[in-house]
Amino acid sequence: DRGDAPDFTAKEIDEQPAAARRLLDGLLGRLADGRLLTDLGLARPDRVRLVACGTSRHAAEVVARVLAVEGGVPSRVVTASEADLAVPEPGTLTMALSQSGETADVLAALDRWDDPVLALTNAPRSSLARRADAVLGLGCGPEIGVAATKTFTAQVIAGVAVALAIASASGRLAPARLAALEQVLDGLPARLAASAALAAAPAAALADELADRPGAVFVSRGAGVPYAQEGALKLEELAYRWVEALPAGELKHGPIALLGPGTPVVVVGAEPRERLAVGIAEVTARGARTVLVGSGEDADLPVCLPAEEPPWGPLEAAVALQLFAREVTVRLGHEVDRPRNLAKSVTVE
Ligand code: F6R
Repeated sequence: DRGDAPDFTAKEIDEQPAAARRLLDGLLGRLADGRLLTDLGLARPDRVRLVACGTSRHAAEVVARVLAVEGGVPSRVVTASEADLAVPEPGTLTMALSQSGETADVLAALDRWDDPVLALTNAPRSSLARRADAVLGLGCGPEIGVAATKTFTAQVIAGVAVALAIASASGRLAPARLAALEQVLDGLPARLAASAALAAAPAAALADELADRPGAVFVSRGAGVPYAQEGALKLEELAYRWVEALPAGELKHGPIALLGPGTPVVVVGAEPRERLAVGIAEVTARGARTVLVGSGEDADLPVCLPAEEPPWGPLEAAVALQLFAREVTVRLGHEVDRPRNLAKSVTVE
């Protein structure tokens, strides 16, 4: 039942703060000394392999960064359909991220290794959940819209919790730092809600302006890059637009040739803004339409970010980009919940 919402995607975008709250209530307080790992029956790994596809792979990129930055824990993100390149390494924990738990590429990839598998999934009775040694359920409730929304934010939160637990267990993450990060996580549901409220009208206005542009470029730096990629994927799959997503520093190495007067360039988060200043200047000089997504006064798509960027980056921006993609899709008259050529569970390799 979608209640008053115009479509399930809108409803599920809206449900993110509540889903995040439920998940965090079950996770916060269990990260110190890796208790979450013990509760899941897992030993502290020396390294982590993250296996996923599509949106879930973007969540995996965020988790890899947190493992590196907070714990010095080596990790590798493996695109499930390219798993033949990932060699076995002792002491590895495989984290499989899949909202449906039925993605054939993910299940096939797991056959390649015999390390313990931790599944992050919204489907605790799925094939993946049965195959895994441990399961961390996302508890989002059903996601009917084909485009992943609330399961993305939930995967980031659950994955970040696991990463912090591993970092803490490895002795590299000081208790005071962990406590500070837990506090920032605790404030996330409120910031997600504030971001949805702040971004709603600007997302609609931007969609009015930009819906007919044939393509767009999404850029960010550092921890923001997976969110730029995720915002781009939402626009591609829902609005059927060609979108290029890349680290801002890569623009000058080729893709800048795509930019002309009016090309939308969506610049995602990444504080401090100076880190993006050069990229923005290059874009503006070519007459492109820069769309800043962030918490600064000058943001075109304003969101509520914490004062200091956490290691998991501007997760709040994901909500604004979901809203934007949905608004563009509505303007183009496409079916929001059931984009063409796509299925909720991709059960073929
Ligand atoms: C995008 C989307 C897909 C899935 C991908 C993996 O909105 O939904 O890119 O993320 O097919 O699906 P799961 O997470 O079920 O393994």
